[in-house]
Amino acid sequence: MCSGPVEEFLDLGLQPISQQYREPDDTSDEFRFRLAVGQCGTCTLVQQLDEVPPELMFRADYPFLSSSSSRMSRHFLGVAENLLRTALAGPDPFLVEIGSNDGIILRAAQRAGVRHLGFEPSGEVADIAAAQGVRVRKEFFGEDSAREVADVDGKADVIFAANTVSHIPDLGEVFRGVHALLAPDGVFVFEDPYAGDVVEKTAFDQIYDEHFYLFSARSVREAARRFGFELVDVRRVPVHGGEVRYTLARSGRRQPSPAVGSLLADEEARKLTAPATLAGFAERASGVRERLGAELSALRRSGARVVGYGATAKSATLLNYCGIGPELLPFICDSTAGKQGLVTPGTHIPVRPPEEFARPYPDYALLLAWNHAEEIVAKEPGFRESGGRWLVHVPEVRLL
Ligand code: SAH
Ligand code: TYD
Repeated sequence: MCSGPVEEFLDLGLQPISQQYREPDDTSDEFRFRLAVGQCGTCTLVQQLDEVPPELMFRADYPFLSSSSSRMSRHFLGVAENLLRTALAGPDPFLVEIGSNDGIILRAAQRAGVRHLGFEPSGEVADIAAAQGVRVRKEFFGEDSAREVADVDGKADVIFAANTVSHIPDLGEVFRGVHALLAPDGVFVFEDPYAGDVVEKTAFDQIYDEHFYLFSARSVREAARRFGFELVDVRRVPVHGGEVRYTLARSGRRQPSPAVGSLLADEEARKLTAPATLAGFAERASGVRERLGAELSALRRSGARVVGYGATAKSATLLNYCGIGPELLPFICDSTAGKQGLVTPGTHIPVRPPEEFARPYPDYALLLAWNHAEEIVAKEPGFRESGGRWLVHVPEVRLL
């Protein structure tokens, strides 16, 4: 981002495309890349060292659906209501979303009669939103497309993105697009996994092909400055294991809130960007790999039945890094129809519908979607009643 020197601190090995599920009998070569992460010595931005071409990840059949979690659906409705009450409360507001997926947020705008537009390159998820009356451009957000929209629809009061800005290696393209499309007093609001939470919880599986950057208040402030913007608000959000919502405005247009200074001070006090902190994180990740492998091997030797729950993108990193395949985890239950019947990238573990969880219940379930623990544990009361135990690996390997 700033051309400073990037120092590697974590190598998660050769990894496949995290959401490239395949037919069980497909023996063709899989794309692999080295999943290594480093930090810029100048601006402290944490980023991957290898870049996977975006069109390999965000394809027509990209399977992730925002609405697969009811908690996330509620969360996004709350975000939409909040924006409608505040930054979109003026006359004839216009909301643009980058990475609008199946359209939870934009549907709320549409219901409120608010002008809106989504940028969503993954064809099938974009179609789901469009079928519900949401306006979507099926393409990657960038400077040219942003200009076109500004010419036709005018400037946006809010440009919002969840779990998408961190996916785009070319931050310059994002900021130039925002510059072209945002109204003079508009805000660019985005939320992404927070480096502070990832490091503190040893949630190294938050790092996979799509999560190219791991943001902190410090690195976002630097990025904003570099492109003529200012970080004017931050808010920690307790979803997906810990995220931060950043609000940016054009430089000098808004007074930064006290929350910005206090999160920056907190990062400083915790030495979040110190090389020793990041080295400690990498060491703990390696410890989780050893303990999880040992635990699953011991369970297999004891004759216990263990299955996985949640075929997440995160689990591609975990399973490939830890070398966990179908011999340790014979299948993974997942509610996403587009993943069922296929096998996981790299590790080739079959994905089955959640109904198979109870036929019969296993002795242990590795909760790969640990960020949705509350929702999933509440949804599967019969598992515990049958004596089953949930196994998690964040922040450490333990039984729930
Ligand atoms: N915002 C949703 C979806 C996150 S997944 C949520 O938080 O649940 C990331 C989404 O961003 C995918 O749907 C992907 O297709 C889309 N995406 C990736 N790169 C993009 C880009 N450059 N412009 C617009 N959308 C992009
Ligand atoms: P998620 O953790 O949201 O994201 P990522 O893939 O980016 O790591 O993925 C959640 C996965 O878990 C998704 O494939 C749907 C599945 N899931 C269930 O099977 N049941 C549930 O109750 C929930 C909430 C999710």
